[in-house]
Amino acid sequence: MSKRAGFATRLGAIAAAVGSAVGLGNIWRFPYEAGENGGGAFILIYIFCILVMGIPVILSEFIIGRSTHSNMKAALKRLSPGKKYYLFTYVCIMGSFIVIGFYSVVCGWIIEYLYQAALGNLSGHSPNEYSAMFGNLIADPWRCVGWTMLFLVINFMVMSRGIEKGIERVSSIMMPLLFVILIVFCVNSLLMPGARKGLEFLFWPDFSELTWKGVLVAFGQAFLSLSIGISCLVTYSSYFKDDTSLIKDAVTVASLDTLVAILSGVMIFPAVFSFNVEPTAGPSLIFEVLPGIFQQMAGGYVWALLFFLLVFFASLTSTISLSEIPITFIMEEHNVSRPRAIFWTALITFILAAVAALSFNVLSDIKLWGKNIFDMMDYAASNIFMLLGGLFTAVYVGWILDRKVIRDQITNNGRLKGTMGPYMIFCMRYIAPVCIFFIFLYLTGIIG
Ligand code: PHE
Repeated sequence: MSKRAGFATRLGAIAAAVGSAVGLGNIWRFPYEAGENGGGAFILIYIFCILVMGIPVILSEFIIGRSTHSNMKAALKRLSPGKKYYLFTYVCIMGSFIVIGFYSVVCGWIIEYLYQAALGNLSGHSPNEYSAMFGNLIADPWRCVGWTMLFLVINFMVMSRGIEKGIERVSSIMMPLLFVILIVFCVNSLLMPGARKGLEFLFWPDFSELTWKGVLVAFGQAFLSLSIGISCLVTYSSYFKDDTSLIKDAVTVASLDTLVAILSGVMIFPAVFSFNVEPTAGPSLIFEVLPGIFQQMAGGYVWALLFFLLVFFASLTSTISLSEIPITFIMEEHNVSRPRAIFWTALITFILAAVAALSFNVLSDIKLWGKNIFDMMDYAASNIFMLLGGLFTAVYVGWILDRKVIRDQITNNGRLKGTMGPYMIFCMRYIAPVCIFFIFLYLTGIIG
């Protein structure tokens, strides 16, 4: 994505945006956040958030990116000459570093599980043994840091060799395959004894379980999962062609992403209740439950391998889009070559990721509000940086950006008709500020 080349086809553009959106956010984070926040009610709020904020924010990032065909800072300078809105880009860059810092630790865990799956170690144990297995992994600083670094080396090699296009092509096969595999796993889970309880937990909204914190987490989860709020989709859409329908693409990306998240929930929760795992287990949830699922499937060895391989690729397409944000920024703003920009991005990422990986073992005593460094990075990234970033983007497009730019972008200079435009603008102008207000009330302790 380093050249101003543009995607060859509409499908190519969508596949890249979906590749960025679908990742560990859907498969690892969504089920455990739903588990910790009461299930059904959380999911209802999550879907509400996708409809009133997720899709409008995707659209606002698309409008900024495609109308200028440039990165966030240059785009804001061009759209609002003489104004300081472009300073906001620094918040996005910081946000992207924090996300990739904790995210790559989980990618490291995925490689460990891929390795264990290859060794055949993911079968023949009890649920307790699987949870001990995960506990041992995160308690071991060498293994945690080692796998995380291996993942980052692969990520930055892909970026420096410029083979992201190749990865995009590979992921256009891997992504649909991941989708098919998720459906197979869902069917398998639905045949388990805990299926009824699992589905009830997932889809029956019990609002007594929902707190203000849960609402905030649902919003943060939606933003992390859709890759919005840190200018990632501004960068991607700056390569879009002028005849792409932005609204249609925003809806497609959000729908596919949400579908994958819900399917992950349907795969995990029947198993959670069948194996008597606590739904509130947190980040370890899928790692404790998945081996049990593979174990009771015919050909479990192959399923396990295939699953972790596909999740690995899904995470790689996400981290590629994540690291592209600072790389493009450093290149274009500081006028340095791509290899140099990659070097600096990699260096900062390595340090942040190592600290995050060590926060479960060597640095586990460092805690703030009961959260270790990894949890703090996760919380700050999704519930503060991405959330406020996305909402400000919406307010910028809704209130500040020239109406003509919006109209031209939404209708492709009058060629497209559609009825969704006013709804999107309404959400950007009114719902986004209301959300910001509530987040402010929550973060300052006035509510919740
Ligand atoms: N959306 C990705 C996921 O769900 C994470 C991500 C966030 C990727 C921000 C790019 C930018 O896994």
